[in-house]
Amino acid sequence: MIIEPIIKGQVAKSCHPVGCGKAVKDQINYVRQAKQIARGPKKVLVLGASSGFGLASRISLAFGGARADSIGVAFERGPSENGVGTAGWYNLINFARQAEQEGLIAKNFVGDAFGEEMRREVVDYIKAEFGGSVDLVIYSLATGVRPDPETGEKIRSSIKTVGEPLKGYTVNLEQDCLEEATLEPATEKEIHDTVKVMGGEDWEEWISFLMEEGVLGEGCQTFAYSYIGSEITYRIYHEGTLGQAKQHLHSTADRLDARMKSFGGQAHVAVCKALVTKASVFIPAFSPYILALFKVMKEMGLHEGCIEQMQRLYADRVYNENGIVETDDSRLVRVDDWELRADVQEKVRSIIDRMTPENFRELGDYEGYKTEFLKLNGFFLEGVDYDEDLDLADLSSN
Ligand code: NAI
Repeated sequence: MIIEPIIKGQVAKSCHPVGCGKAVKDQINYVRQAKQIARGPKKVLVLGASSGFGLASRISLAFGGARADSIGVAFERGPSENGVGTAGWYNLINFARQAEQEGLIAKNFVGDAFGEEMRREVVDYIKAEFGGSVDLVIYSLATGVRPDPETGEKIRSSIKTVGEPLKGYTVNLEQDCLEEATLEPATEKEIHDTVKVMGGEDWEEWISFLMEEGVLGEGCQTFAYSYIGSEITYRIYHEGTLGQAKQHLHSTADRLDARMKSFGGQAHVAVCKALVTKASVFIPAFSPYILALFKVMKEMGLHEGCIEQMQRLYADRVYNENGIVETDDSRLVRVDDWELRADVQEKVRSIIDRMTPENFRELGDYEGYKTEFLKLNGFFLEGVDYDEDLDLADLSSN
């Protein structure tokens, strides 16, 4: 079969398995030649391992110096009569194949990380086949829905403001245009539900369960990822529903850190840069900021993608020569430092102030944004023969 890109709104309805493999390979090649992770962990569990920051973390820790064995958990779909499946499915397979060739263990679990069954399965595997413990747990889930732990009822997050509504522009990837978007103010229930889905509760439940089961090794670390951004996006993100969820994530890190001290463990949040991922393209009114940011950071030679961010995080800030996790005064590890530089933000603001549906392609890096989105789904990668007739038979199980 020949697979073409299909985009509906902000969602890719197809993906290219060979292209996904190439994207994983490119990330591996990047970390091999980057500054290496010294004294890294050997046994890693990544929740949300199939794309974005979670996949990049797993690649960094396996191929960027630490040579870590890993378990990856993600919610993805394989090929079926309904379609080719999701890019994350192929990322997981391709990562595991590459890691195994390198002599590393790479075990994938595909299913709902919010469910108790998944926790049980992962712990049983750690005990039976993964040496009995892990020394790093990465929590990188991004989702709009979570089953209520008590009732099983679906809780949904909302991407809204808190207080007043906000009007702005959003990129429409299907139509290649900039269109008006309004973020409505959230109700108290919507705020509460967003915190439930994207806050720290599930992270804490995972860590509590892993602690009870005795599978967190001496000195084990755990990381979750956050975004704060600049004043330009505060109303959309930091002061909106997502920001409330992130505040909860930050306080969860402090609680977990205190609890993990008994075995020399630590819990941190790493604050990352705004990037194009499956999750971030959904945030209304946020895309003009990314278009401007990419343009400016590329021109200044400061641009990073997920893989560059994660390699810098683990090589420089976490498993560095000093053996000390570098944080700011609020115990946050900041790899959003280049994004937030005053000179970067000043240039970004000047672009956004002038951006319209007519000039957004010239003023911002729409080309880069769209290419990045297509690459996430295995398209537009150099060296891939997109006319090749693919047989997906040996890619149907993870
Ligand atoms: P992504 O959409 O690329 O990856 C999300 C991962 O979560 C995927 O592996 C997916 O399979 C998994 N997942 C979703 N629901 C699941 C479920 N029920 N069970 C198991 N796995 C599930 O997202 P991205 O952007 O990498 O986000 C990861 C974290 O990074 C989030 O906390 C996000 O807020 C944070 N972050 C993202 C930024 C961005 O610009 N994209 C910036 C800073 C932080």
